[in-house]
Amino acid sequence: MDTQTALSKQTIVLHWIVAIGMIVMLAVGVYMEENKAYELYPLHKSFGVLIVVFVLWRIYWRAKNGWPTPVRQYRPVEIKLSKIVHWLLIIGTILMPISGMMMSGLGGHGIPLFGLELVARNPDPADPSKVIALNETLAQAGKAMHGLGGNILIAAVLLHIAGALKHHMIDKDNTLKRMIGK
Ligand code: HEM
Ligand code: HEM
Repeated sequence: MDTQTALSKQTIVLHWIVAIGMIVMLAVGVYMEENKAYELYPLHKSFGVLIVVFVLWRIYWRAKNGWPTPVRQYRPVEIKLSKIVHWLLIIGTILMPISGMMMSGLGGHGIPLFGLELVARNPDPADPSKVIALNETLAQAGKAMHGLGGNILIAAVLLHIAGALKHHMIDKDNTLKRMIGK
């Protein structure tokens, strides 16, 4: 169980698996999109599907345990801001993979999982180098969510890291230490 002085192993391990996974996925997503690095798409998709296991586990753990109690009393505005950012982060961690799967799966591009074909590509019989969407509207909605969601999540992560550093360096409290198990 999480307490005010120490976080459980499960909270710490899940936080860092999902945090590092999401940061790498955000960076790779932006890089591959900007540079048209199509060779990275299957890896991005595979890790994006894999991370869902940890994201769902983490959401279950949060729902069962509630949010960790702050290490000490803060100004109400700080508590509110950190709550908003934590919600954005946790919602972002589930909406990014879902929107990615909508865009790729329903867009007809297919979803690989490390060489396995989770959802098959749907080639256009007239020109097999192109694909036909299974549901164009939902695929486009997924694409829009993935792009906008990615930008919102990047902003939330930057705010979150700034908050963690403020606790550690300015407030000199235990917030960051507690999350690395000290
Ligand atoms: C786990 C979380 C994920 C994160 C954080 C993430 C993040 C991103 C980001 C930031 C971009 C660049 C978007 C842009 O600049 O418009 C991107 C692109 C992309 N992502 Fe993800 N992604 C995730 C999961 C997935 C999954 C599960 C799939 C598919 C199964 C997927 C498929 C794609 C594709 C195909 C693109 C390129 C879109 C294009 O070329 O228009 N992503 N991702
Ligand atoms: C270098 C990057 C990161 C650092 C230093 C960091 C640090 C921390 C710290 C110190 C806490 C504890 C806050 C408290 O006690 O109230 C925390 C909680 C949290 N972090 Fe991060 N974090 C990072 C990246 C991320 C990323 C990328 C995500 C998600 C996309 C994330 C999601 C969360 C969430 C949802 C919480 C609330 C508690 C929980 O669910 O475990 N963090 N983080």
